[in-house]
This record gives sequence, structure tokens and C-alpha cells, in this order.
Amino acid sequence: MAMVCLSDFEAYAKKYLPKIAWDFFAAGADDCSTRDENILAYKRIRFRPRMLRDVSMMDIRTKLLGTEISFPVGIAPTGFHQLAWPDGEKSTARAAKAMNTCYIASTYSTCTLEEISAAAPGGLQWFQLYIHRNRAVSQQLVQRAEALGFQGLVLTADLPYTGKRRDDVRNGFRLPPHMKVKNLEGAFEVCKTSPSFHSLLDPSVTWNDIYWLRSLTHLPIIIKGILTKEDAELAVRHGVQGIIVSNHGGRQLDGGPATIDALVEVVEAVQGRVEVYLDGGIRKGSDVLKALALGAKCVFIGRPALWGLAYKGEEGLREVLRILQDEFRLSMALAG
Ligand code: FNR
Repeated sequence: MAMVCLSDFEAYAKKYLPKIAWDFFAAGADDCSTRDENILAYKRIRFRPRMLRDVSMMDIRTKLLGTEISFPVGIAPTGFHQLAWPDGEKSTARAAKAMNTCYIASTYSTCTLEEISAAAPGGLQWFQLYIHRNRAVSQQLVQRAEALGFQGLVLTADLPYTGKRRDDVRNGFRLPPHMKVKNLEGAFEVCKTSPSFHSLLDPSVTWNDIYWLRSLTHLPIIIKGILTKEDAELAVRHGVQGIIVSNHGGRQLDGGPATIDALVEVVEAVQGRVEVYLDGGIRKGSDVLKALALGAKCVFIGRPALWGLAYKGEEGLREVLRILQDEFRLSMALAG
């Protein structure tokens, strides 16, 4: 089967993954209106292409907080990569490094931070944090990540509780017994099962906790899950270095805006003071171009990375990234 576009990887993953894993990856909250809107919103945006502008030479590189990446697409943090491929996050790390882009490793990885970092030495990696009720656990994770050479700390702000994902409830989703949330091993007895360990997250987190994080680490802090100009302003005022406009792939509050629609007000509020990124619904190179045209410095892919892993591990994810890269370059050229 020739893999031509990201939907081909989606079809493959749907066909070959166990239903419980596919449902977990695909899930959105409630009736999935925000998840679906993330994709539909791109279809409503049209280019005003310009002609005869010599597109024989194009440079698609960019920088994330000063570090160069090969093109403006990175890997969003998603949990449980071993559900897609036996090597899990190690394969993800290798693919991101091979394509010279950024990988945001989730707190809920099925490999340890040490394994992820060792799989792709020198690769650009950020660590995504959920703040736990037991602050010592979070503090230790942040300091482990910094010591291992992770170059950014991504605080996910939109998950005080887990959204209601109907299929996961119906399936009684939990990790198979041979997989573990390895970063939290030893920290909690209950971390072997999901989603019960989500209840160990601290729902009382506020903006003041950014100052607490700041006191723990020298790493730049990027806040993920911002959708309004008000929160964008607060994020800047609390000293973060970056904002990821995100609705968690529509898995949290159903009924919120598509991220590409929220991007505009965030970019306007931020006025270039910090870098603004976006995730949610990126499925084609032209989606990347639309997000950049509307002010994002870079975008991140969540589910498409999992589909690539499900197809062929590291090689499959590299193929997903290469297709997006080719499509992005072509869109840039055709848009002049
Ligand atoms: C996620 N996402 C997520 N975000 C995060 O900060 N920490 C995490 O552990 C996870 N886990 C996770 C698992 C799965 C299966 C999915 C699909 C998503 C959200 C993720 O980072 C990102 O915001 C969305 O996936 C982006 O939307 P697309 O690209 O999937 O449409």
C-alpha cells in the first residue's frame, strides 16, 4: 500500500491497531465536536496565492527558542506510545532526531525520560509536565528532565481533570499489564492503571504555580492549552517563553474553538513578546502554511505521529514527517 498522505496512515492504524488502542488515540471529549472542528476549520480558510515570485529556492527551516529545526512541525506530547509500537517513545525520539525536529515527551510515556534521551542523543527534546498533587514527584521529574538535557519544559494547563471520552469509558480503557507509565514508577502504586492515575493530578494549579516551576528549573517554560487572549496575556505576564495554542486535540472541554480559530486572538494579544505555536488538526502541509500565515511560529502533530508509529515505528513516523515536509514546501511554492 503506497502511503501518500496522512489519512493513509490513519486508515492503516484504524485497521491494524487493537480497537481499544485505536479508540484511545482517536477519542475526543463528549460528542467530539471540538476534535472535529479542529480539522473542519482549516477547510474554511482560503489562500490568496501570489504568482511569478521565483520559488526555485526555498528555506523551510525555523527556530524554536533559538534552536534550529528542519521545518516548522514538531511532535506534540501524547501518552502511551507502546500501544502503537513496541519500542514506544524511543522510536518517536529517533524519528524526530532523524528529521531534525522537536519531540515533546509526555509525562505519561511508556519509556523513561532516560530511555527517551538515550535513544536520540543530541536531538531537540522538550518535556511535558502535568503537575501532581504530590509536588515532590513533579519537582523530581522536572529536575530529571533538565539534568538529562531536555531543552524546554511544557506545562499542560488544560487537564485539571480528564475529559469524558465516551469510548474509553465504554471500553474500560487501561494500559495492558506489561506496559507502565515508567516516569512515575515507584512514585505511585496506582500508576499502573489508567485513567485512575489522572486523579493524582492537582486540579488546584493556578498561574502562581508558574513561579513555583520557575524556582525549580532554568529551562524555558512553554504553556500548552491556551485558547484566549486573556490567558495569553496572563501567560506573558507570568514570564513563560512560549505558548502552545491547543485544546488537547478536542479531548478536554468539548465546545471550545478550533485551535486555528483561537490562534488569531492569541497572536494579536502576544504581539511578538513570546513565541506562539499551535497543535490540533494538522493533517496536510497546507494546514501548516495556514497556521504560519496566521502567526504561529511552528505547529505540532499529535495523532498523526501515533499513526506513523503504528504503521512502522520510527520509519513510519519519519515517513509521516517527510510527507508533511514535502507538502508544506509545495504549498509554500504554489502560494508564492
Ligand atoms: C494527547 N495529548 C496530550 N497532551 C499532553 O500535554 N500530554 C499528554 O500526555 C497527552 N496525551 C495525549 C494522548 C493522545 C492519544 C492524544 C490524541 C493526545 C494532546 C496532544 O498533545 C495534542 O494537543 C493533540 O493531540 C493535538 O491534536 P491532533 O494533532 O491529535 O489533532
